[in-house]
Amino acid sequence: MATFLFLFILPLLPILPCSDASPMPLLSRGSSLLVEEYKHTFLTSPDGDFSCGFYEVGRNAFSFSIWFTNTAEKTTVWSANPKYPVNGQGSKVLLNHDGNLVLTDVNGTVTWDSKTSSGKGTTVVLLDTGNLVIRNGNSEILWGSFSSPTDTLLPFQPLTKGTRLVSGYNSLYFDNDNVLRLMYDGPDISSIYWPSAEYTVYKNGRTNYNSSRIAVLDAEGYFRSSDLLKVKSSDWGTMTKRRLTLDYDGNLRMYSLNASRGSWIVSWEAVAKMCGVHGLCGKNGICEYWPSLHCSCPPGYEMTDPQNWNKGCRPNFSKICNGSYKAEDFEFIKLPHTDFYGFDQTYNVSISLEECKKACLEICSCAGFTYKTGPGLCYTKVLLFNGYRYPHFPGDNYIKLPKNLGISTSSDSRKSRLTCNQNIPEIVQGSSSMYGINSVDKNWTTYYVFAAILGALVLLFTGTSWWFLSSKQDIPKSMEAGYRMVTNQFRMFTHRELKEATGKFKEEIGRGGSGIVYRGVLEDKRVVAVKKLTNFSHSEEELWAEMSIIGRINHMNLVRMWGFCSEGQHKLLVYEYVENESLDRYLFGNVSSERLISWSQRFKIALGTARGLAYLHHECLEWVIHCDIKPENILLTRDFEAKIADFGLAKLSRRDRSSFNLTHMRGTMGYMAPEWALNSPINAKVDVYSYGVVLIEIVTGSRISSGVTVDGTEVEIKLFVQVLKQYTESGSVKDIVDQRLHGQFNPEQAMVMLKIATACLEERNSRPSMHDIVKALLACDDEDDHPAYSW
Ligand SMILES: *[C@@H]1O[C@H](CO)[C@@H](O)[C@H](O)[C@H]1NC(C)=O
Ligand SMILES: *[C@@H]1O[C@H](CO)[C@@H](O)[C@H](O)[C@H]1NC(C)=O
Ligand SMILES: *[C@@H]1O[C@H](CO)[C@@H](O)[C@H](O)[C@H]1NC(C)=O
Ligand SMILES: *[C@@H]1O[C@H](CO)[C@@H](O)[C@H](O)[C@H]1NC(C)=O
Ligand SMILES: *[C@@H]1O[C@H](CO)[C@@H](O)[C@H](O)[C@H]1NC(C)=O
Ligand SMILES: *[C@@H]1O[C@H](CO)[C@@H](O)[C@H](O)[C@H]1NC(C)=O
Repeated sequence: MATFLFLFILPLLPILPCSDASPMPLLSRGSSLLVEEYKHTFLTSPDGDFSCGFYEVGRNAFSFSIWFTNTAEKTTVWSANPKYPVNGQGSKVLLNHDGNLVLTDVNGTVTWDSKTSSGKGTTVVLLDTGNLVIRNGNSEILWGSFSSPTDTLLPFQPLTKGTRLVSGYNSLYFDNDNVLRLMYDGPDISSIYWPSAEYTVYKNGRTNYNSSRIAVLDAEGYFRSSDLLKVKSSDWGTMTKRRLTLDYDGNLRMYSLNASRGSWIVSWEAVAKMCGVHGLCGKNGICEYWPSLHCSCPPGYEMTDPQNWNKGCRPNFSKICNGSYKAEDFEFIKLPHTDFYGFDQTYNVSISLEECKKACLEICSCAGFTYKTGPGLCYTKVLLFNGYRYPHFPGDNYIKLPKNLGISTSSDSRKSRLTCNQNIPEIVQGSSSMYGINSVDKNWTTYYVFAAILGALVLLFTGTSWWFLSSKQDIPKSMEAGYRMVTNQFRMFTHRELKEATGKFKEEIGRGGSGIVYRGVLEDKRVVAVKKLTNFSHSEEELWAEMSIIGRINHMNLVRMWGFCSEGQHKLLVYEYVENESLDRYLFGNVSSERLISWSQRFKIALGTARGLAYLHHECLEWVIHCDIKPENILLTRDFEAKIADFGLAKLSRRDRSSFNLTHMRGTMGYMAPEWALNSPINAKVDVYSYGVVLIEIVTGSRISSGVTVDGTEVEIKLFVQVLKQYTESGSVKDIVDQRLHGQFNPEQAMVMLKIATACLEERNSRPSMHDIVKALLACDDEDDHPAYSW
């Protein structure tokens, strides 16, 4: 857990107040930077673009780093001690009298040093390029941070024979054959994924003849390497600040700074299809884009570490290849349109599927094979790595499993999976596990769910990089829909800061079971919603642990949390501010005709809400059940995109049940699934139920949750559902759809929505999953902006 949290904390970049800072031009012999003064004392480059000093990577944990001074979110480009942060008290960086720059921890341990020695006149200076250098009295450079990069290259910073960029298990480096490559080097597998190993060096447009091994990003945005690689930033030109970063997800991206906003946009990336980044889903894992980028385990396999997909999946059976192996004990399960890249044992052309099966059965070490029907290609695999599935892959994988596992050999395993109940781990009331979540049931049904990606960080695309992505037509839309860069913005706020931001909690914008919400403006001009939690008895550590999970949740249909504050009594959460009001204000009561939302807006809201919930249920690193889905918690952006508010709090409230009435805090009458009342264990299906109620309300425009139907008669939801069913079965929906739309609606969509809604209100095991719902809605989406992905 410690490393897990640490990995997350690493990129949290607090925004340093610049006002009372006293940047220093240089460090001379005998002078030092003290960690306690990190906010005020640091080096800056002459032009002010870069700063260097102590940089908070977590609570009371600091690194000695270089960062861009003028970005909205602090962006570090170098760190002396990326893996070994030092204590926030008593640590310092000293240029000692021997001319050695030394970083010491509180107890005097040397965490890092520049290994230089020099006499009088030695100084440490941060150059305009972002290079931190140690110069002797004759201005000769003895050492420079450019020569020991971490995960980022700045313009003019060469990557050479002896240097590499490293991020997690991935690195960018010059290989022995002089080619610049990206490699995944995990605990048990190493694999090169860029440039594609499927082609020769020559076909990839590279050469291995030039042994100078040097790659540089220039001022215009060209990144050139001695192996003839030459790539260009999409916004090339000299006016822009750029960086080339090996992100935590293993992709190498060039970022350009939008100086007016202080934000980064992706202007080039090495691997266009994220499933092509090896190690993303680990050993035996399968990467897929549909319905959004996620990993899964094949049948018979389970996630090795439920927190980290990099660790992949492990077989839930033993197979010992020592003579006791019997071919007849094994069988194959077909994984349609799936392949595992590399690790081929044999390769045969023009053989039948049966022969291919036989070949794999005969060899104990064969874990499965990929077969392409037309040419009869058979690849037996000794290892299943870098698995991916896409609809147009012209072959299938057959995975070898012991017969006694009891997994259906039905050729359409995908179908059987979807009709299964999804074994979402249940949150048992009173559970004592850390997050109140039982271990995940690991069988084939988890295949489609739990797309926890990348261990600690889900790093994908920034919202602002969409223009770039959409200009590249081969990137599946589903990726943009689901993911955005986890920007380094989540942080802890002080109470004073929030008091100032909200003008002493002046403007109340909402009020709910868990607290009161105020509007505020942060120092960096971001408008935020600040929620004051009432009745809260968590310790700071607990809150931090929970918040760091919620803070990582990032989806366009979920209200983003920017941070929190915990000081004694004061527990506050800081959220993204959403322009428009909540959905209920546009649906119920006397809504003026300009405010009344149109059918297409309603459909979009229904779909967005479903997507946000699907993400919470199936794709977060931790299972998150909302427990209070209702129109009041669905906020709308200016473009009427739905954003779900208030998620993640269910877990917080569950912890100390004794002092908290769960049903008081979470859940709202009328939207609560019947199992709430029965006090039985709840799972994600409670949200599905509430979603069903909301869906009906979106279609009908009336509060059915209040127990009053369209025509004003009072009726129990159960009965109402029966009535709805009759309408949908008879195919006439126009009497149910909001009359205020005057017939301006799409009957096919209305029918689908009502059918989904009635299914959601069934007994819980019969309710669909949010994934199923997203799919069903997408299938009748007439705005053609979710096309099938092209490969
Ligand atoms: C100093 O502290 C660090 C981390 O706090 C620890 O890893 C190291 O062992 C300590 N060294 C000594 C000599 O106590
Ligand atoms: C090798 O690459 C370097 C750097 O790109 C270049 O300056 C040099 O001319 C190249 N050498 C040959 C023989 O092409
Ligand atoms: C930078 O951001 C501003 C403000 O949002 C925007 O108007 C401008 O187009 C952006 N510039 C680039 C190059 O993307
Ligand atoms: C193979 O290994 C298993 C488990 O280690 C052992 O029980 C069995 O006797 C071994 N068989 C042979 C033929 O060595
Ligand atoms: C596959 O090819 C290998 C060598 O290329 C050959 O030994 C083997 O017999 C072939 N298998 C089949 C089933 O044709
Ligand atoms: C793994 O195997 C055990 C015993 O063989 C079984 O009880 C369990 O359900 C299996 N799990 C999965 C995910 O298949």
